[in-house]
Amino acid sequence: MLTIESLNQYYGGSHILRDVSMTVPESRLTVLLGRNGVGKTTLLRCLMGVVPTKSGTIAWRDTALTKLPTHARVAHGLAYVPQGRDIFPRLTVEENLLVGAASKKRMPSGVPEHIYALFPVLKDMKARRGGDLSGGQQQQLAIGRALMSDPQLLILDEPTEGIQPSIIQDIGRTLRQLVEEMSLTVLLVEQYYDFAKAIADGYWVMRRGEIVAGGPGADMDADGVREMIAV
Ligand SMILES: Nc1ncnc2c1ncn2[C@@H]1O[C@H](COP(=O)(O)OP(=O)(O)OP(=O)(O)O)[C@@H](O)[C@H]1O
Ligand SMILES: [Mg+2]
Repeated sequence: MLTIESLNQYYGGSHILRDVSMTVPESRLTVLLGRNGVGKTTLLRCLMGVVPTKSGTIAWRDTALTKLPTHARVAHGLAYVPQGRDIFPRLTVEENLLVGAASKKRMPSGVPEHIYALFPVLKDMKARRGGDLSGGQQQQLAIGRALMSDPQLLILDEPTEGIQPSIIQDIGRTLRQLVEEMSLTVLLVEQYYDFAKAIADGYWVMRRGEIVAGGPGADMDADGVREMIAV
């Protein structure tokens, strides 16, 4: 389980995360929903140690992460697919994937077949430059790259943003497959309600830096989650 307790974060004088407490159970897909600018990405950056945490604690299984640097969190099984994908446009698809294994003690000589099995399009395009891929393919590449570190907890920030519906479906299926067949734990930040609802085992809603609701994915309609995040 990922356990976040009473997390507070500030940018300058603005109080961005306010006493955030939430849990992410193992081998489940948990979505965190919230409108623009409520602090979702800031929370993920705190989880990865990309920004330091002002107060509160973060633990994955029995390991306190709060004071660990990012690379140590990756070594403990966390992987992060940032908002906007951030792939390397001038490296090939294969090189982009191999970058994701840079944290491992033994660098693999190639991309393992199970990564290409999850994303066959990446195999077809492995010699192409990352920047030549469509937005949806770049998103798949970013997820594939994160999986190269053999994570236990995969954290994704709005993977559906700006990509075509057919690839959104593929990504949803792949995330479910990771949870069900490989027992991965997934924390997904989303604003696209229908996508989130279709794949979530559990949900949390953030509003102005606070967690205001949470429950099983099956209750999202009844709990009025769509209205909570509608703009
Ligand atoms: N580096 C920064 N310096 C100062 N303020 C920031 C910084 N990054 C984000 N903010 C502010 O912090 C708040 C939370 O931003 P954050 O990016 O975490 O929101 P978000 O929920 O991920 O939004 P979106 O859905 O648009 O991605 C916003 O008001 C934003 O303007
Ligand atoms: Mg964001």
